[in-house]
Amino acid sequence: MMSRIPLMAGNWKMNNDKRETLDFLSSFLPKVKELTVEIVICPPFTSLYAAAEKLVGTNVKLGAQNMHWEEKGAFTGEVSPLMLKELPCDYVIIGHSERRQYFAETDETVNNKIKSALKHELAPIVCVGETLEQREEGITIDFVMGQVEKALKGIEAEEAKKIVFAYEPIWAIGTGKTASAADAQEVIGAIRNKISELYNKEVAEAVRILYGGSVKPENIKELMAEADIDGALVGGASLKAESFYAICSFNL
Ligand code: PGA
Repeated sequence: MMSRIPLMAGNWKMNNDKRETLDFLSSFLPKVKELTVEIVICPPFTSLYAAAEKLVGTNVKLGAQNMHWEEKGAFTGEVSPLMLKELPCDYVIIGHSERRQYFAETDETVNNKIKSALKHELAPIVCVGETLEQREEGITIDFVMGQVEKALKGIEAEEAKKIVFAYEPIWAIGTGKTASAADAQEVIGAIRNKISELYNKEVAEAVRILYGGSVKPENIKELMAEADIDGALVGGASLKAESFYAICSFNL
């Protein structure tokens, strides 16, 4: 099996202004200097520039939480991939469940954004995941595989390899309820099989798939022990340098 570099991404959501971002990095950067996992922080737009300056020459990368698929134009309130690239961002979260739920993102807009991110050499972290009702109805796998298939529509194999997926069951986000490692592995393994089916084994082995939803220092080891889980997309526990460091150093 090809080895994939573990990826820990912090999704700060609408938290951490410029001052808080700089304070976080002052304490976080020295701690993680020697770590070998890939680390990404995704601050809100207004904190990206300050973070980018502070991250120069470090082993922590920058990601945005959303973007528009067009390069420029009359889209009030939106940010373009060129603007993110300029900072520079390396990653962008696409289709987070909060964006799908509260800001009307659809599988189609998610697909447009992924294509645009790839075109501009931003690695998309594509979020998928079921609601509690869907899990209880027993349609988790079907629903999530549908989201994956629609996300990948019209994307070539070589490009698909650069995508990172994040499986985030909606009922586990910010609730303190983590999916069990075995449940997360079941869905993440199914996503890898789906990618193999849509492309081939080589693409499936290259794509990194993260788990997200109440990841904390106490459960990261168990999740990372699963064969197909390549890292985590971390919300609440990524806001404090101490706890995000504890997650990033899970293997020490
Ligand atoms: P959480 O959020 O870690 O606070 O549950 C994860 C996410 O929404 O990406």
